[in-house]
Amino acid sequence: MTSTNDIRRSFLDYFAENGHERVASSPLVPHNDPTLMFVNAGMVPFKNVFTGLESRPYVTATSAQKCVRAGGKHNDLDNVGYTARHHTFFEMMGNFSFGDYFKEQAIEHAWTLITKEWGIDPSRLTATVYHDDDQAYDLWRKIAGLPEDRIIRIATKDNFWAMGDNGPCGPCSELFYDHGDHIWGGPPGTPEEDGDRFVEIWNLVFMQYRQEEAEIVGELPKPSIDTGMGLERAAAVLQGVHDNYDIDLFKTLIAASVDLTEQAETDATRASHRVIADHLRSVSFLMADGVLPANEGRGYVLRRIMRRAMRHAHLLGAKDPLMHRLVPSLSAEMGAAYPELIRAQPLIQETLEREETRFRQTLEKGLGLLDDATASMEKGDELPGETAFKLYDTYGFPYDLTEDALRARGLTVDRAGFDAAMAEQKKAARAAWKGSGDSTDGEIWFDIAEREGSSEFIGYQATEGEGTIVGLIKDGKEVNEIGEGDSAVILANQTPFYAESGGQMGDSGRIGGPAGFSAAVSDTSKPLGRLHAHHAVVDSGRLKLGDSVQMLVDGERRDRLRANHSATHLLHAALRNRLGGHVTQKGSLVAPERLRFDFSNPTALSDEDIAAVEAEVNEEIRANQAVTTRLMAPEDAVEAGALALFGEKYGDEVRVLSMGRQTDKHYSIELCGGTHVDALGDIALFKIIGESAVSSGVRRIEALTGEAARQYLGGRDAMLRQAAQMLKTSPDEVGERVGALVAERRRLETELAEAKKQLALGGGGGTGSGPEIETLGETKFLGQTLEGVDPKSLRSILDDMKAQLGSGIAALAAVNEGRAAFAVAVTDDLTESFDAVALVRAGVAELGGKGGGGRADMAQGGGPDGAKAAQALDAVRAAITG
Ligand code: ALA
Repeated sequence: MTSTNDIRRSFLDYFAENGHERVASSPLVPHNDPTLMFVNAGMVPFKNVFTGLESRPYVTATSAQKCVRAGGKHNDLDNVGYTARHHTFFEMMGNFSFGDYFKEQAIEHAWTLITKEWGIDPSRLTATVYHDDDQAYDLWRKIAGLPEDRIIRIATKDNFWAMGDNGPCGPCSELFYDHGDHIWGGPPGTPEEDGDRFVEIWNLVFMQYRQEEAEIVGELPKPSIDTGMGLERAAAVLQGVHDNYDIDLFKTLIAASVDLTEQAETDATRASHRVIADHLRSVSFLMADGVLPANEGRGYVLRRIMRRAMRHAHLLGAKDPLMHRLVPSLSAEMGAAYPELIRAQPLIQETLEREETRFRQTLEKGLGLLDDATASMEKGDELPGETAFKLYDTYGFPYDLTEDALRARGLTVDRAGFDAAMAEQKKAARAAWKGSGDSTDGEIWFDIAEREGSSEFIGYQATEGEGTIVGLIKDGKEVNEIGEGDSAVILANQTPFYAESGGQMGDSGRIGGPAGFSAAVSDTSKPLGRLHAHHAVVDSGRLKLGDSVQMLVDGERRDRLRANHSATHLLHAALRNRLGGHVTQKGSLVAPERLRFDFSNPTALSDEDIAAVEAEVNEEIRANQAVTTRLMAPEDAVEAGALALFGEKYGDEVRVLSMGRQTDKHYSIELCGGTHVDALGDIALFKIIGESAVSSGVRRIEALTGEAARQYLGGRDAMLRQAAQMLKTSPDEVGERVGALVAERRRLETELAEAKKQLALGGGGGTGSGPEIETLGETKFLGQTLEGVDPKSLRSILDDMKAQLGSGIAALAAVNEGRAAFAVAVTDDLTESFDAVALVRAGVAELGGKGGGGRADMAQGGGPDGAKAAQALDAVRAAITG
């Protein structure tokens, strides 16, 4: 038997051998199409190549593309488990020609691969063509030799394929396989076509036109080819089974489900096993591509699929969470072809187990309520919408789970009633918000959020993507259109722009739209915590509600924000390690050019603390560990060691960022919704440039990373080199040289003071002669005025003068910048007769000063009138002679 893996390989090998580029599957979340929830066809990643917007280095390609059809327009969720061919996840294999070959070669390849390479019996094959496509009709005749009655013309949309209302499209031709007359059904175009006998296995689309709003508006640059073959259907044909769930891959997954639930596959359990096997694939692949359970958007579709599977596990009597234990079987089957599955396996298992544990806590109660509410109902009856809403609101039953639970009993649900109850709840939320006294101009956000739901952030992995315009605000009012020169707020259903929150600044960048629209986004904010508001100025063109836009984040700026945000987490951890567990975050700013972190700590950090923290952070950066993100319930996150912000409100789920090396736990674990580096080495360098006080008990650190840190250090280096140049030494010796200069200066100052003193006293070998000793009555007196002498040395000069007198009185005026310091000394033998304080006061009065003080033997004062120094000395003389 040819395995599913072999079939995928052989398809891709065939086209690669025929010159096609082998292109890996794109992730399930489409970044190039805002109208799609998930990639749902092989050509989705090539959409812009067909229309000529994007060019690739190849003109033909082949791929096996992961697809999900659940949520959005193509929603097969409700049918899965009950039919032979519905899946939420499947693989679409295809070959593509972007203006290279067209119909003839496409049919040639299809026929060769199917009948020659794979040896499928041509008599079992039937083709359809679009009713007026004579060319395709003739080619099937010529190339395949199909008889006329097995080339069927179809006039409906079935044979005109379009990806959606906007995009490339064209007539198509489908190949059907006849499983045999033991199965009910008829060829396409007959009344029995919906039976399972004739199964479409390959769709060849002859891409030729471009649609806008479901109208053909033009031709593609070149006729092109897009084909799609469901791998599971191909495997069924090649493995000789009729039902997709009987192929090797599903048999293995179902066997694992049977094994773990100990419930054999019977008519009663078959649907449940199938649901589990199918949903296991979609939920695992979605999580591997970054979708995590949430209450809105893609995350909610994922949760709905999970819960549907979990209810079936419960139905099979599984006592404990089941889904996560099936993941290894899936990885074993598909991990070789999709390594992302292996890489994400721990995340997938952990998330599934957590979700199932939590869901089980309410599942039985909810089912009990459902049983009570339906006890007296009969086949064909309808469950009131109110009850379905209660199940949703209180027990976490997605609407379609309630529907699925009632399906076996032939009961339905009142959808309109459910929607009305939901609307009522939203109205109550708005009223509560208004009552909270929050600003009322925010009401515009409520209008948009209620009408459009939250905008989805698709920027954790990418910095570009497409969005559909859901709101335009100019001068505080909603408008339908904006144009050149307008300052406006632009809202789209999804965006790669990060909106300011958690201290991280909002992204800036550019939004481009149809017909030359271009706007510069300066900032992104997050009203109501769930809308992404792009603050923009329109450079050119016009934009209206419903338009598709290309959104391009300034990636270089984002990279700097990411580095600064991750560095903030490392800094937080390093501070706690160094200073203690009392350190908690009090505020944070993550800007592109720097980071600022406020934290509780009673005292300033020492230089050693700063150096140690900086060294520790850089060590983690150099260890270059990958940064991992998990989604957890807040209480689980805290248990896992995450640093939660006390007082912060968290939702049902929180993102948990782990980074750095791991001993018993990661170096840093924090709850955080921000964007981060992939690996810590991306931060490159961390440098603290400031430590200061914010308020009592709160310190602030400012720091730089990457290129900004390098430039800062480069600037410091340049300053050092400049200093070295001025000191005529090398940068290495600047410290020593400055030390020597400081010591030298100190020595020179002392010498200078000494020289001045000597000069004043007329000694020290100076040329000037000192003052003469006078005799005033019985008393000897020495008086002198000095210029430029430090007032601090007055005392020591006076001491010298006293020594010179032996017995007597010395008076000294030191004039500096017009002011005079004045001091008088009386030798000890005369202090009975003269008071230095009284004498100094007499002098000070002449200098225009007040007071003067000291002791009887030595007193000091001063005044502003330095020019009167001589009079001050005279006043002392007069006081002595009395
Ligand atoms: N794009 C085509 C399909 O999905 C092949 O059927």
